Amino acid sequence: MIPGDFQLQRPSRKKLMLLVLLGGVGLAAFAGIVLVAIFIISAWFGRPVIFGFDEGPAQPIAFPHTRHVEDLGLDCTFCHRNVEKGAAATIPSVGLCMTCHITVGDGLAEVEKLRATFEAGQAIDWVRVHRVPDHVHFVHEAHINRFSGTKQIVDDLSTGPDQIRLVDARKIEPSARVGETIDVAASQVCTICHGNVGAMTTVSQVRPLKMNDCVDCHRDNAAPTDCTTCHY
Ligand code: HEC
Ligand code: HEC
Ligand code: HEC
Ligand code: HEC
Ligand code: HEC
Repeated sequence: MIPGDFQLQRPSRKKLMLLVLLGGVGLAAFAGIVLVAIFIISAWFGRPVIFGFDEGPAQPIAFPHTRHVEDLGLDCTFCHRNVEKGAAATIPSVGLCMTCHITVGDGLAEVEKLRATFEAGQAIDWVRVHRVPDHVHFVHEAHINRFSGTKQIVDDLSTGPDQIRLVDARKIEPSARVGETIDVAASQVCTICHGNVGAMTTVSQVRPLKMNDCVDCHRDNAAPTDCTTCHY
């Protein structure tokens, strides 16, 4: 080694510990900030940044919408009775299921489970698929009434409730065109937010239904966007 050559001073043990500690704290803070950012982005855009929409939870009884809607032709409102009348759509009681299943479905394991629940006088703990936080106010009735009935298909609303935007009409009738009119039944409105549930064996969420999704749709449909519409 040539004398006078630059030489790093060996850091003392104490200094080294301090450096390692500072590095650790910095890393933890950075990880924290990244996590918060991911949380905010996914809350705002409703796009789960990491996981994406999943399959939908398994239910205590494997109730297939396909069998009841596509095969039997039951209307959504036959089971979700409150959907045109109030805030919650409501899930039917075991009693309603039993009007058919007292006789229908002998030997099917899931139907036997249903019968056992009924005989025990219990309710089924269905796992919720869609849920807005407690501080948010959502009302089915207003949406079903607004989007059902005879509607003129338009690109952008000009006159109001007698019109439906093409993007929404297409979710009900994929071949819909601007200028046509369509008759929308209450049970067809569901697809705008829930997708084609009648074709789902297990219900899963297909639309974010986060704040920006709600507010964008309200703005596009001349519905109120002030905070108190959705927050108490
Ligand atoms: C025979 C009764 C029946 C009919 C008909 C029916 N459903 Fe359901 N629905 C249920 C039951 C029971 C559940 C709870 C179990 C589940 O999630 O699969 C449910 C759950 C749902 C959910 C998820 C609720 C949540 O937790 O977020 C949606 C959305 C839904 N139904 C929409 C519809 C639509 C749209 C139709 C018509 C195309 C329909 N249902 C027809 C019985 C019915
Ligand atoms: C209008 C009559 C009717 C009502 C109401 C009804 N079901 Fe059914 N369900 C049927 C019929 C018909 C089948 C087909 C039975 C078969 O394949 O033998 C069926 C099949 C089923 C099956 C078995 C699916 C399979 O293929 O394994 C389950 C589970 C079931 N229903 C649950 C329910 C529940 C839970 C409710 C109440 C929310 C309900 N059903 C309401 C008529 C009904
Ligand atoms: C404008 C969007 C929108 C439309 C249209 C809509 N839903 Fe929903 N649905 C939601 C939201 C948001 C939730 C979660 C509400 C909550 O947590 O209070 C939900 C929850 C539900 C639930 C579970 C909780 C409950 O309210 O009982 C059922 C069942 C349901 N919807 C059925 C239906 C049916 C059936 C239709 C059509 C007749 C329909 N929905 C139309 C947005 C919609
Ligand atoms: C598909 C478009 C659409 C989506 C998505 C939507 N809304 Fe709406 N909403 C409307 C329209 C249109 C009205 C006005 C209905 C009327 O004219 O009464 C409305 C009305 C309402 C009302 C007022 C009900 C009343 O009369 O008191 C509330 C509360 C509301 N929406 C909450 C929500 C929330 C929360 C979400 C998201 C989870 C949401 N909406 C998603 C279109 C939408
Ligand atoms: C059309 C309905 C609607 C309107 C109008 C609305 N919000 Fe929200 N807001 C929501 C929904 C839905 C959520 C829940 C999002 C989720 O599931 O995390 C939410 C969540 C929030 C949150 C919690 C943070 C978050 O992202 O979860 C805050 C804060 C908030 N809103 C503030 C406001 C303010 C301030 C206004 C008025 C400028 C407003 N909101 C107007 C529907 C609405």
